[in-house]
Amino acid sequence: MTITVVAGRARPCDHGRVAGGKAVGGGRRARPGHAFRYEATARFITELVDRGTLIPGARVPSLRQITRQHGVSLSTALQAYRTLEDRGILQVRPQSGFYVAKGAPILLETPPISRPPARPTTVALSSVVPKLLEYAADPDLVPLGCAIPDAELLAAGRLDRFLARAARAKGIGYNTYTVAKGDPRLRREIARRALRWGQVLSPEDVAITCGCTEALVLALKAVSRPGDTIAVESPTYFGFLQVLQGLHLRALELPTDARSGIDLGALQRVLRARSVTACLLSSSFNNPLGCTMSDEKKKAVLALLARHRVPLIEDDIYGDIYFGDERPRPFMALDPHGGTIYCSSFSKTIAPGYRVGWIATRRHMAKVVDSKLALTLCGPALPQAALAEFLSSGGYDRHLRRVRRTFRENIERMVRTIDRAFPRGTRVSRPDGGFVLWVQLPKPVSSRELFEAAVKKGVCFVPGDVFSTSSRYANCLRVSCGSAWHARIERGLETLGELASAALAESCGATPTPGRRRCRRAAVPGASSRPPSPRARP
Ligand SMILES: Cc1ncc(COP(=O)(O)O)c(C=O)c1O
Repeated sequence: MTITVVAGRARPCDHGRVAGGKAVGGGRRARPGHAFRYEATARFITELVDRGTLIPGARVPSLRQITRQHGVSLSTALQAYRTLEDRGILQVRPQSGFYVAKGAPILLETPPISRPPARPTTVALSSVVPKLLEYAADPDLVPLGCAIPDAELLAAGRLDRFLARAARAKGIGYNTYTVAKGDPRLRREIARRALRWGQVLSPEDVAITCGCTEALVLALKAVSRPGDTIAVESPTYFGFLQVLQGLHLRALELPTDARSGIDLGALQRVLRARSVTACLLSSSFNNPLGCTMSDEKKKAVLALLARHRVPLIEDDIYGDIYFGDERPRPFMALDPHGGTIYCSSFSKTIAPGYRVGWIATRRHMAKVVDSKLALTLCGPALPQAALAEFLSSGGYDRHLRRVRRTFRENIERMVRTIDRAFPRGTRVSRPDGGFVLWVQLPKPVSSRELFEAAVKKGVCFVPGDVFSTSSRYANCLRVSCGSAWHARIERGLETLGELASAALAESCGATPTPGRRRCRRAAVPGASSRPPSPRARP
């Protein structure tokens, strides 16, 4: 495949893009009564648009038709259409009705399954990683880098009020140590929430940690020793790699699909070869790919691990941010052997700054408590008390409903902007939850060079190579969708698209000016040699 540069936008020279991916934020079809009815209707229309059934400029079914077909009221249908108008998918024409907006269908392919080397690697993290937190604190940079949800968007002030109330109610009583496992009320609330996905936990099976990061450290210390190898998804969250590095553990990256997760065959080979001591996987909406394994696949993973007596550590930090009808079940809830160690935190949903996370395990709790005592003794009492109150008040559920809606809308808008502003041949993940997107640029664009250029222009993102130990993903990047949608965010993303187009044009020896020029060096990975992905649409 060759690339032609047209008006500053590099396009592959084949005709039309291979259609791929499902409706943005689509996921399983909403069942009325479970999801908001207007959301189910909105999703139905979005899928028609994204599949090309309804093309830009086409009139969408009238409100009356929709009310008849979906058994919803006129006001629900109107709310659905208004929502789609807000998302830029529909536009209203006075006296005429609703039409598909220009550029509405998303025809970007999702990234293909990764192919990391099947051997353990020593983790040596890039120097970019420490800079990311620095950049996240810089208000002059457009925040597309760290996956930190915007405090405004989280309406964290509500939780702060619980904290102030707790402090007032108990005076200086919280200025003391808790037991190593943390506030018993918070542990009880966490155990109660686990019941919703079918997991019976005792508060004694739960220990409060300093964010999910400490939970991961405690879990890994419980099941491995320095020099051991841990299997991870590829690409994987760079924080996992950082923890592995800190504990002198090696990583073995597993091939991972942007929708369905790890390759079971590859896991089986690794287990047969006794190459790994433990497995560290995301429960849902992996960072950065956004993939979630089905319950059946999770059960198959658990069966394989049990057969080879390899423990699983799961990170469920994004599990509550699902866009479908139901929260995906973590591995722990599907594990008949009770060997899974569960890690999570409130950092992505309500309080990144409170640094409250937790680990749940019965089998390994004694070791976890020993390590906790050695590392931090116990966590701060007041934030735990505030979260316990917040959870028991029911406020967290209301809050989560709003957060889920906002992140889903953000993801949709970001994907649409990428579709419009990035060079042809770009692929993007379509997560059904969480708030990060994985973008694969046409080769040979280097996301590291793009990163340097973008920071100079006031935009931050995370270059792809930091998500692997094997120098892969140099043409990929992760963008965070954790900030409230705003013209500044949109402009930041457009800037990235312009920089990527310019880099691609430069690599072709062309300038991004109007006119069609052929580039023989730039290739869209996989586009010419691989058959269309199963999600590709004709
Ligand atoms: C998958 C994953 N796990 C853990 C963390 C860190 O969690 P915490 O801030 O609670 O330590 C992050 C943060 O980005 C993450 O994406």
